[in-house]
Amino acid sequence: MTRIAAGIFAALLAVAGSADTSPRQAQRVPLPVIRIEQGEACVAPVEEMRRNHMAMLLDQRDRTVREGIRTTRFSLKNCVECHASRKTGSVLGKDGFCSSCHTYAAVSMDCFECHTPLRQSRTASAPR
Ligand code: HEC
Ligand code: HEC
Ligand code: HEC
Repeated sequence: MTRIAAGIFAALLAVAGSADTSPRQAQRVPLPVIRIEQGEACVAPVEEMRRNHMAMLLDQRDRTVREGIRTTRFSLKNCVECHASRKTGSVLGKDGFCSSCHTYAAVSMDCFECHTPLRQSRTASAPR
């Protein structure tokens, strides 16, 4: 599982790295849409986010649910606040930040069966 995921991830990064330099690259799978909607920077450097966001989220969940420790740095709600689309207000959907990359990497994730994928704050609502 980790082996496969690491392979997928390496491929993903390779594609991302070469995207603007090779126009002839014919894509079989649509590339993930990584559009940053909000905020100056992520909660950790991008390289670290790409590799470790799963662990960060799961640790955060364990700390909150089992130990009752609430911090906001890796809170799922915060991810959604910054990464939800301006158009749909969601991190899911066809071009959703989380889902487009997960579709590409064939990751399935059940988090949003319970957690809302929608941005809650009004200030960041879609321009009309
Ligand atoms: C304050 C806003 C903010 C929050 C909160 C936030 N992000 Fe980010 N995220 C960004 C920005 C801006 C970038 C673009 C890279 C940068 O400059 O840091 C980014 C980049 C990323 C990337 C890399 C995308 C790529 O280019 O490959 C991932 C993955 C990511 N975030 C996941 C998360 C997750 C998971 C959470 C919650 C634990 C989260 N982010 C919380 C703003 C945020
Ligand atoms: C069956 C419902 C359910 C599912 C599925 C679920 N969670 Fe949660 N999660 C909860 C509940 C309930 C809490 C506690 C809510 C609280 O106290 O804020 C929680 C809390 C959290 C927290 C700590 C609160 C925060 O936002 O910082 C994180 C992080 C988190 N979950 C991440 C995840 C991730 C990542 C997944 C998917 C891998 C996931 N959850 C799947 C129900 C769920
Ligand atoms: C740059 C691509 C990319 C983006 C953007 C991205 N992910 Fe991921 N995510 C992955 C990959 C690849 C994996 C599988 C890695 C592994 O299993 O080691 C993964 C796995 C996960 C997992 C673990 C799933 C499981 O059950 O094992 C969670 C939770 C997760 N991502 C949450 C998020 C959330 C929430 C967002 C949006 C805020 C997000 N991811 C955005 C690429 C991404």
